[in-house]
This record gives sequence, structure tokens and C-alpha cells, in this order.
Amino acid sequence: MSTPETSIHGEWSSRLAFILAATGSAVGLGNIWRFPYITGEYGGGAFVIVYLLCIALIGLPVMMAEVLLGKRGRSSPINSMRILAQEAKRTRWWQALGWAGVVAGFLILSFYSIIAGWALAYIPRVASGMFTVVNDLSTTKEVADFVGARFGDLVGDPLRLLAWHTAFMIVTITMVAGGVQGGLERAVRWMMPALFIVLLVLVGYAMSTPKFMDGVHFMFDVDFHKLFYPKGEFSGEGVLVAMGQAFFSLSLGMGAIMVYGAYLPKHASIAQTTTAVVVADTFIAILAGLIIFPIVFSNGLEPGGGAGLVFKILPIAFGQMPFGSVMGTLFFVLLALAAWSSAISLIEPAVAWLVETGKFSRLSATIGCGVAAWLVGFATVFSFNIWSGVHPLSMFSAFKDKTLFNLIEYLTTNIMLPLGGLFIAIFVAWLMKRQIVAEELESSPESFGYRLWQFLLRYVTPLGVGLVFLNAIGVFS
Ligand code: TRP
Repeated sequence: MSTPETSIHGEWSSRLAFILAATGSAVGLGNIWRFPYITGEYGGGAFVIVYLLCIALIGLPVMMAEVLLGKRGRSSPINSMRILAQEAKRTRWWQALGWAGVVAGFLILSFYSIIAGWALAYIPRVASGMFTVVNDLSTTKEVADFVGARFGDLVGDPLRLLAWHTAFMIVTITMVAGGVQGGLERAVRWMMPALFIVLLVLVGYAMSTPKFMDGVHFMFDVDFHKLFYPKGEFSGEGVLVAMGQAFFSLSLGMGAIMVYGAYLPKHASIAQTTTAVVVADTFIAILAGLIIFPIVFSNGLEPGGGAGLVFKILPIAFGQMPFGSVMGTLFFVLLALAAWSSAISLIEPAVAWLVETGKFSRLSATIGCGVAAWLVGFATVFSFNIWSGVHPLSMFSAFKDKTLFNLIEYLTTNIMLPLGGLFIAIFVAWLMKRQIVAEELESSPESFGYRLWQFLLRYVTPLGVGLVFLNAIGVFS
């Protein structure tokens, strides 16, 4: 039984093209919206350290494994897992990993599109100079109230959220329908450097604020008490959330990186390409933190402000800094582009599978998947307004006060993605033939790098994910 040589969906034109696409998938709202807001909620430094450890010890090895599965299977995650399970003489049930990934992808896209819609909504707001008013306000409290109220206007209005959500989804569908190479390679090539430069300018602004060092201390002073005792009582949740964020930010655990791996040219080094992606992704998250927290403290605000944090903080900077309206417009445009290059990887596994069944064209498959995610997105839209008081799982203390959006985000990011990663690690490190794995990695099973990687996948990932889960349900408290 041999595995397919090439994917029917096309291939990246080069190794660099894969790096760009995978970085495009990884870098997105996860880095700029989610990382700062959850770091703020879980107290800073210790959370960041756990996050970085998860990236290095679990995220990177799992990413290599996931790319490897795709590169070997050359198909959608569902079919790649079927083919590879057969090759390794294991049960067909391994394709369930592909199915779970499809479900997770839909659920994530359903809320991702709403947050990306916020970014779109802020483009005309910043461009029109809405936030320059902050210069006429005399206290930091007035400034904070003003930007907070503008955020409230947006999320309190379901129709407006729905309109931006729809706009984001239509463009996503158009991009995915265009295929893997299409405009994506070209777009990401200039977008990433541009985003990076804008972030550097914003770090420069953050350095000019009075409390820059407070922000730096918040992010890097490690105090585990803050992580484990967020509200006075022991909780393992912070570690779970940090691990979930590592998976989310790297796009791991649901087949996105696997399907991109399927389009990788045959002789591309997996270790080098994935390392480049991981470094870029982590660097951008840290930069986002270095921008947000100094502005938070300089304006007398609280870092644990929830999912709206970035949208309540950055407009202050764009209101105050020279050329702020121009910089702000550029920033939100680039953020929306980064969100698009991530969103497309969330439905690509499902679309690729539908196309492989032979019953759908790429266009009809994409429209079907896009509309489905769009509909599920209503749950998140309403979580911020008419259903903001609906907390479906409040009977469980862990889910107290969580809206539908909070629950979907929690379930996918903190449970589904790490579980997906766990099974990927087990399959690659325990069940596949070593000789095949080594061949795909173009490495010798005896080399130090190979053995280290295998050790991390075999022991550290299962043990790490397992312990973090047990800790989160209170076994060690
Ligand atoms: N990593 C992206 C971000 O940080 C989001 C994303 C894209 C993703 N594809 C994914 C998250 C697959 C989990 C799984 O914004």
C-alpha cells in the first residue's frame, strides 16, 4: 500500500510559499486579540512562561508531526488519517481525528469571524478620526470611558455585528474558493512584513507612555501565585488556558496545518519550516503584549478587561499618537488580512474533504462550509447583546457566567485542540513506522534531533496534556 505522491488540490510553489501560508494561518487574532486578553485575565508573567513552555515543548513537536501526517497522506485530514492508519495497519477509527478537526474548525471559525468583524468595523471608525476626541478629555478615566462606550456601541448592536460577520465570511469564501495558491501566497508575502512594521511602530508608542516598564514587568515577572490562585482559591484553569492558547495560536490540533502539509512539495524540510513559523508566531504575540499592557497601565486600566481588551486599548493610542488615524487604519486593515489568512485554514480541511468525495466542486464545497459556519456564528453575535445574560452551563461552577461564545471558545481551544494534538502525537510517535517517519523528516532515526523530537512527542506531550487536564478538573487541588 503506497501513499499518494501529490495532492489533487495543488501544491505550494516552494518551501517559502508553505512557510508564508502556515505563518499566515498561525498569525492572526490569536496573537493580537486573544493572547493579550487572556494574559491579562490570568495575571501576566507566570501565564506567559507556561505558554512559552507549551509552545516549545509541545507546540513545535506537534506541529512537525501534523505537517508530517499531511505531507505523507497528501489529502484532507479525514482521508490522510484513513490512508495512514491503513499504511500503519491500525484501525480505521483514526479518521475520527479528521472529523473532530472539521467540527472544531467550524466552531472556531464561527466566533473567529465575529471578532474579525470587529477589526473590520474599526477600520472606518479609526480612519474617520473617531478617537482623536481623546485628546480633549482631561482624565484617563474619561478616555477609558469614551473608548469603552464606543466598543459597547458596536457589540451591543446585533445587526451591526451580523453585517461585519457576513462581510468577513463572504471574503473568506471567495479566498478559499480560489484554491491554495491563488492570491494567498502573494498577499501574505507583503502583509506579514507590513504587520510587523506597524507593530514595531506601536511598540515605539508604548515605550513613550509613562508606564511602559509596568507593562513589561506585568508580562515577564513570574509569580505563580497569580496563575494558580486567580481569585484566592486554587485553580488549574490558567495552565489549561495557556496550553490551549499555544495550540490555538499555532493553528494546531484540528488539521489546518495537516492540510497545508499535504500541499508541501516533496522535498521540503519539515523541521526548518515549522521552526520558522513557530518563531514568527511567538514573536508577534509578545510584541502585541508589549504594546497593549503599557497602554493599559498608563491609562489606569485593568489588564483583565476580557475579550474587548485590544479594541478598548489601541484606539487610545490611535487617538493620541501623531498620524494615529493613518496608523490605526493601517493596523486594522492588516489585522483583518491576518484574520483572513487564518480563517481560510479553518475551513480548508472540510472543503478539501468534500472535494475529494468527488461530489462537490471547490466552489460549492466552500459556499456550503462557509454558510454553515456563518449560521453557527449567530450564537456568538448574540452572546454580546441579546443573549449576554444566557449562561447555559451555569450549573457547573467551572462554566459559571460563561456565555455561548465563552463556551464555544473554551471547548474548542482548551479541550478539542489539545486532545487533537495528543492523538496526533500518539499516532506519529507510537504507531507509525519509524522508517517512514524518518523518511518524511529526511532525518536518521539515530540522530539527536530525531530522538529528542520523538521523546517530546512520546512522553512530554501525552503527559503534559494529561496532567494539565487533570489539574484543570481539580485533581491536584
Ligand atoms: N492560529 C490562528 C490565530 O492565531 C487561528 C487559527 C487558524 C487556528 N487556523 C487554526 C486555530 C486552526 C486553531 C486551529 O489567529
